[in-house]
Amino acid sequence: MVTHNSAFSEETLHQFVRKQLRFNSGKNIFYSGEENKPEFLQETCDLIEILQKNLFPEREKMIEFTVDKVLSEFYKVNQYYHFDKNAQSELKQVYRDLLDDITSVSKETDIAAMAEKHYSRLQQWLQRTNPFAASLYPEDVSVVDEVVCAEYSAEMQMEILGLNLSTMVGPVLDVGCGAKAQLVTHLTKAGFDASGIDRNAEPGANLKKTDWMDFSFVPGHWGTIISNLGFSNHFRHHHLRNDGDYLDYARKYMEILQSLKPGGAFYYAPDLPFIESYLDPQKYRITKREIPRTGFFSVKIEFIII
Ligand SMILES: C[S@@+](CC[C@H](N)C(=O)[O-])C[C@H]1O[C@@H](n2cnc3c(N)ncnc32)[C@H](O)[C@@H]1O
Repeated sequence: MVTHNSAFSEETLHQFVRKQLRFNSGKNIFYSGEENKPEFLQETCDLIEILQKNLFPEREKMIEFTVDKVLSEFYKVNQYYHFDKNAQSELKQVYRDLLDDITSVSKETDIAAMAEKHYSRLQQWLQRTNPFAASLYPEDVSVVDEVVCAEYSAEMQMEILGLNLSTMVGPVLDVGCGAKAQLVTHLTKAGFDASGIDRNAEPGANLKKTDWMDFSFVPGHWGTIISNLGFSNHFRHHHLRNDGDYLDYARKYMEILQSLKPGGAFYYAPDLPFIESYLDPQKYRITKREIPRTGFFSVKIEFIII
């Protein structure tokens, strides 16, 4: 008898998930045509047949792994997708439903129907949680254009933000530090107590995988907070979107500023003129630098010691 423990190590199952996600990578979930639509690989169908007979015990762990990878795929396509805790637990349910289906169908023809049902649930979930997606990705287009979300070298980020190691105060937090967290590494090597948060981070001693909206910025704690093309870029996006969460972003922005120690500073790019103009000049000193060839500015906001 083939069982999860003997025939499939956790790593093998993870490889199946990665391969399946790679196969559908970049496909439009709203596409209504037949060619190049999201589908299960033959290998996935074979795996399903085996799992039907021997449903592996660590089902929830497998769901968590899959959901984590699926979210990364969606973020890769469009960095402005936002999946809060609710959306993430709904996505887990989509995969629980899939596993329930796996145990209840038997013939291969049923697997095709099951795949269709699964992608339809996924489509409804995306439409419910990020309604702008359906208008961005019409149903007659099979492949989606990815919204660029690059990471930059530590030197380039220092240059854009005008960071100076000799005047920087710790502890330092990089908000949206990127999966590679290059600036956090650079600052740690330079002797700073530096940490980073990113929803794409590999968790480590000073790296936390979290949504910045869920991160608690402790009042009066940070000497320096940095966010290059991270928080403020998304705040701008929500400010411009009809259905944007700009109020949540405005509240989080103030929470970030209040988490600075007296004399501390928040460095970010691009700038946010629509909220910076409301800051109390007795409390915050704003300095801007033009980022060459972009038309945007980087900003330093110092919490003034009175
Ligand atoms: C353009 S990249 C910049 C990364 C890094 N700051 C740099 O300059 O190389 C933006 C980063 O923000 C992260 N990000 C986007 N939305 C986020 C959110 N809601 N919570 C946490 N991180 C987020 C992305 O995962 C990505 O790594």
